[in-house]
Amino acid sequence: MKQPVKKPIFYDVTLRDGNQALRCPWNLNEKLLVFNQLVKLGVQGVEAGFASASQMDFEACRLIASQAPPGMIISSLSRAVEFEIEKSWEAIQCASAPRVHIVLALSPFTMEHMLRLKPAQVLEKAVKTVSFARSIMGGRGSIQFSAEHFGDCIDNLDFAIEALKAVADAGAAVVNLANTVERYRPAVFVRMVEKVVSAMPGHVTVAVHAHNDLGMATATTVESYFAGASQLETALNGLGERSGNTNMYETACALSACGIEVPLNFDAIFETAHLVSRMTGIAIPEKAPLIGEDIVSHRSGMHQDGASKTKNLEKGAYRAFDLQKIGRTEREQIRFTSQSGKAAVYEILRQMGIEISRQDAARMQPILKKISEMSGGELTCEEIADIYRCEFSQTAASFS
Ligand code: KIV
Ligand code: ZN
Repeated sequence: MKQPVKKPIFYDVTLRDGNQALRCPWNLNEKLLVFNQLVKLGVQGVEAGFASASQMDFEACRLIASQAPPGMIISSLSRAVEFEIEKSWEAIQCASAPRVHIVLALSPFTMEHMLRLKPAQVLEKAVKTVSFARSIMGGRGSIQFSAEHFGDCIDNLDFAIEALKAVADAGAAVVNLANTVERYRPAVFVRMVEKVVSAMPGHVTVAVHAHNDLGMATATTVESYFAGASQLETALNGLGERSGNTNMYETACALSACGIEVPLNFDAIFETAHLVSRMTGIAIPEKAPLIGEDIVSHRSGMHQDGASKTKNLEKGAYRAFDLQKIGRTEREQIRFTSQSGKAAVYEILRQMGIEISRQDAARMQPILKKISEMSGGELTCEEIADIYRCEFSQTAASFS
């Protein structure tokens, strides 16, 4: 596949989509703390909140806009309602790159059952509110138009494209394709993204905003980038409505693994994940890609053998990504269970400074396997060393 021409733009929605779904939404100081972490990560854009939702959200948008580094896009979300657009603009206009974000659904189901408007009325509303935003922004900043439930526009894609072209003509610099509820395969969504990209004028940025209802949001976002969407809307720890938004860390690392230059400070990822976990009370699952505690462990014989033989190579047999890049300090870990092999015994004891030979490691493995089976699980390095010292070193001596 051809490499995309445009660099990815990371537009973070943690402070809005993520925050609105928390059991205990963040206060001003907490939002600022997360914002500072986003600055450290070097994201290109931050959705600071929904200024018209509450006085606190308004203040948060204003504070974040006032502290944003030059050039960082700061947005506030609004529905296609003039009062909300005014509030957004009021809150974020002090940023050097303020953005008014307007959301309106374009899918047949939503237009009929939620908006209760005909498509022509929706189109008119979209253009009218984008033009209104343009009129109050005095030539500054940018406008983003989000098609809520774009993923459901599978049955009226021609209408959706017509509406997106119309809002671009009215002044929206970014059209965001939201997979508000993930219902279909990434390939289906990505084909729709491709159609929008080829229909839009070149100066318009196409964004994707994917939710993770079926667990495929990262795949959708990564593939949408390869289909020409350059603004990627992601969230720290995958926070967001229901099962969350596209996870920033997974997206960044997947793109990087595919040879894309990703404009983020990767080394701040791991500390950010832990900070956000503490600040939300949402634990990081131990199998979470990249950041989970246990993802560095190898327990089966075949994997231990491969990991051991390739540990000093740039590409590891069972290592998808160099975790040191995201700020993790631990290397691949070999753990001994009943599933483990001789390479594990060799690696574990050698790491403890015990000069065991490969032959002795092979002899020791069935003994440890039995002990592990009987004791019901993983043996610690110390237990393995003790067993070696107490029993096996004598047996080893008698072999020689
Ligand atoms: O999921 C969604 O549709 C949104 C929009 C505001 C982009 O969050
Ligand atoms: Zn969303």
